[in-house]
Amino acid sequence: MADDNRVAIRTAGPDDADVIADITRTAFGQFEGRVYPPFRAHAQTPAHVRWEMEAKGFVYGLALVDGRPAGHVRWRLRPGYMHVSRLAVLPECRGFGVGRRLMAWAEEEARRRRVRVLRGEVRTALTDVLKYYMDMGYRVIGYASLHGVPRCLTLIEKRLSYRRQTARPARPEREERTDDAAASAAEEAAWVDEARISPRLLHPALARLIGPPAQRSRRNRR
Ligand SMILES: CC(C)(COP(=O)(O)OP(=O)(O)OC[C@H]1O[C@@H](n2cnc3c(N)ncnc32)[C@H](O)[C@@H]1OP(=O)(O)O)[C@@H](O)C(=O)NCCC(=O)NCCS
Repeated sequence: MADDNRVAIRTAGPDDADVIADITRTAFGQFEGRVYPPFRAHAQTPAHVRWEMEAKGFVYGLALVDGRPAGHVRWRLRPGYMHVSRLAVLPECRGFGVGRRLMAWAEEEARRRRVRVLRGEVRTALTDVLKYYMDMGYRVIGYASLHGVPRCLTLIEKRLSYRRQTARPARPEREERTDDAAASAAEEAAWVDEARISPRLLHPALARLIGPPAQRSRRNRR
């Protein structure tokens, strides 16, 4: 498995939604009942993955090991940065660099678009995962609350450099960046982990895309 040639990353399409939802639920399963607020990942469905891709602009990278699905990451463009989330590797495929390859793939996607900043967030309680990202060049830029839990999310960022740079945009003060990042994380969290939009509130075409509501307990919906 350590052999890099056995790992391939490709952009996923709607036809991969079943595989992606399966990877998400399996990889995040270790946190079920152990991390509060619970990850929305536990309730991922193929219909929701398709909705993310077709209606919300998320792009998934799918990792294959010897041609078999092993993990994924997703990104989408936000004003001034690329938001990276949902890094997940199946338990039996961990520890062989698949996660790092997925993060490198997202970075390459950013470079191809001349995007300078990648951002994401980590549950503050998951200190080993935070260290994992820091080892890949990310740094902490602030914190945000989730479901009323203060500092529940640690906001991280990686800045890319390009050889031939045009005029460098003015760098705002640290406090400003933190507020900005917290606001964007709250927005991402709203899409990623909190919002369950009732299909009734949507245009019928979008509601059909989402499909029936994910099976979630009342407790998880808080
Ligand atoms: C975190 C995760 C994506 C790592 O995937 P991976 O393919 O095993 O990662 P890599 O092989 O690239 O790197 C493994 C390294 O990360 C370290 N690591 C950090 N956090 C880890 C974690 N929670 N689980 C496993 N390894 C972890 C390992 O110690 C290992 O270090 P080493 O290379 O020095 O031995 C995977 O463990 C996973 O899917 N976890 C559940 C979902 C998750 O936490 N996603 C991130 C949410 S923000």
